[in-house]
Amino acid sequence: MPAPEALAFDMYGTLVDPVGISKQLEKYLPEQAQRLAEVWRQKQLEYTFRLAAMEGYEDFEQVTRKALDYALAAVGRELRSEQRDALIARYNDLERFPDVEPGLERLKEAGYTMIVFSNGAPHMLEALMDAAELRPYFQGFVSVDEVKTYKPSPKTYRHAARRLGRPASEVMLVSSNPFDDIGAQAAGMQAAWVDRSGGLFDTLGSPPEIVVGTLTELADALE
Ligand code: 2OP
Repeated sequence: MPAPEALAFDMYGTLVDPVGISKQLEKYLPEQAQRLAEVWRQKQLEYTFRLAAMEGYEDFEQVTRKALDYALAAVGRELRSEQRDALIARYNDLERFPDVEPGLERLKEAGYTMIVFSNGAPHMLEALMDAAELRPYFQGFVSVDEVKTYKPSPKTYRHAARRLGRPASEVMLVSSNPFDDIGAQAAGMQAAWVDRSGGLFDTLGSPPEIVVGTLTELADALE
């Protein structure tokens, strides 16, 4: 594989830390916050996979709201609508991981073309690019909303490569989510797994070209 010319970065869990959501949940439901956060994230992604398989589409805010409703029912609790709105708003105001700035600085120095490529709805990504101070490093962002389906549909990765003006083989997808890395490779991209949680990589696909723990390690690996 030629060295990648362009890097496409996943957002949630790769560039920004969803832990801010758990902190907000702890304010409302301290005993159930951990389980609620887990069920919410799992259901949020499951709904995106199922919508893609059904060839349906609702934007990531709608899916995130519906997944929250499910998670609250799963733990047998309720929240007032303004509390649910505050949780959704928190999604648009998450902090970047500490290695993101130094890592992106080095990758920008090295001359990579970089975009954010995410399931997030455009209005969510707009807000997050400012809140997490990501704009200086990226040409912009690509939301799957532009093709009305979700990762890991190959349509999304091919669209991102088109928006970068490069063949998929010259693009490296950078993600902490193994489903995303495997989806990118299936669409012809290279993949770097940012293993932030010491988890397992799925056995569904071939291993990613690069495995790192931080974006500074990614800059080292690509040097
Ligand atoms: C993304 O940002 C959902 O983390 C996934 O596309």
